[in-house]
Amino acid sequence: MKLLVKAPAKINLSLDVLYKRTDGYHELEMVMTTVDLADRLELELLNDDRIVIHSQTRFVPDDDRNLAYKAAKLLKDRFNIKSGASITIEKNIPVAAGLAGGSSDAAAVLRGMNKLWDLRLTLDELAELGAEIGSDVSFCVYGGTALAKGRGEIITPLPPPPNCWVVLAKPAIGVSTAEVYEHLNLNGVIHPNTKAMVDAIYQGDYHGMCANLSNVLESVTFKYFPKVKHLKDDMKRFGADAVLMSGSGPTVFALVQHDSRMQRLYNGLRGYCHQVYAVRLLGKRNEFS
Ligand code: C5P
Repeated sequence: MKLLVKAPAKINLSLDVLYKRTDGYHELEMVMTTVDLADRLELELLNDDRIVIHSQTRFVPDDDRNLAYKAAKLLKDRFNIKSGASITIEKNIPVAAGLAGGSSDAAAVLRGMNKLWDLRLTLDELAELGAEIGSDVSFCVYGGTALAKGRGEIITPLPPPPNCWVVLAKPAIGVSTAEVYEHLNLNGVIHPNTKAMVDAIYQGDYHGMCANLSNVLESVTFKYFPKVKHLKDDMKRFGADAVLMSGSGPTVFALVQHDSRMQRLYNGLRGYCHQVYAVRLLGKRNEFS
């Protein structure tokens, strides 16, 4: 039996770091939403005990460092499952980009193998397991739009944001999330107004959403990779309504409402940026239990 699962990328509409915790993680407050740029995973049961990862890109590990592998292994060990799984990943989300591609693959494996192994776990139970794999996996289990707190795993659902285009551009560098957090200095950073962002989403207020895009990690990534800051400035000049770096970067995204502006921005960026995507917000949560 085969199952196809979609694993969408996420963007952070806001990302605040409140303080460094005693366990080494940072206490966060983030507004996240999924966009229509997705990896596709084909899952299949194996009669033997193996978990096998197939992927066409050399940037994705095919062993136990892969988050999709970890997700299958976690379910298999926790529920004492005898059969194996073959996981084929069609990678469309840029890797190490701030778009939670690996976390979304892991979440898709949790949702899909829950069905194939007939475990009947709820989304809440899968999200709790996901937190053991990575901080963004819980959000990705639900998808849609949410306020994420704690290490990123405490999820409060939000309604879909007002509709618009999202133009994503990824410079040709990979950023280590751990290193960005390590170099973050909270003295003097401008914190996002998370409540204003949440209110804008509830009110369907596109301009309020644009006005409150904010990410404290920009201060670190811009310092070490000035290219990312330049890209953000270019996107503003090309006519974006608002621009922000996603997660720890280096992907920068622009919001625009009008098709003509989206085209102008997309064409302008394609001139010199290798990975550019114009997609829609997905906004809505995964519905199955
Ligand atoms: O949880 P995950 O493995 O995705 O996080 C990657 C790294 O990012 C962590 O090892 C940690 O250094 C940093 N991090 C953090 N605080 C968070 C989430 C991640 O410091 N809330």
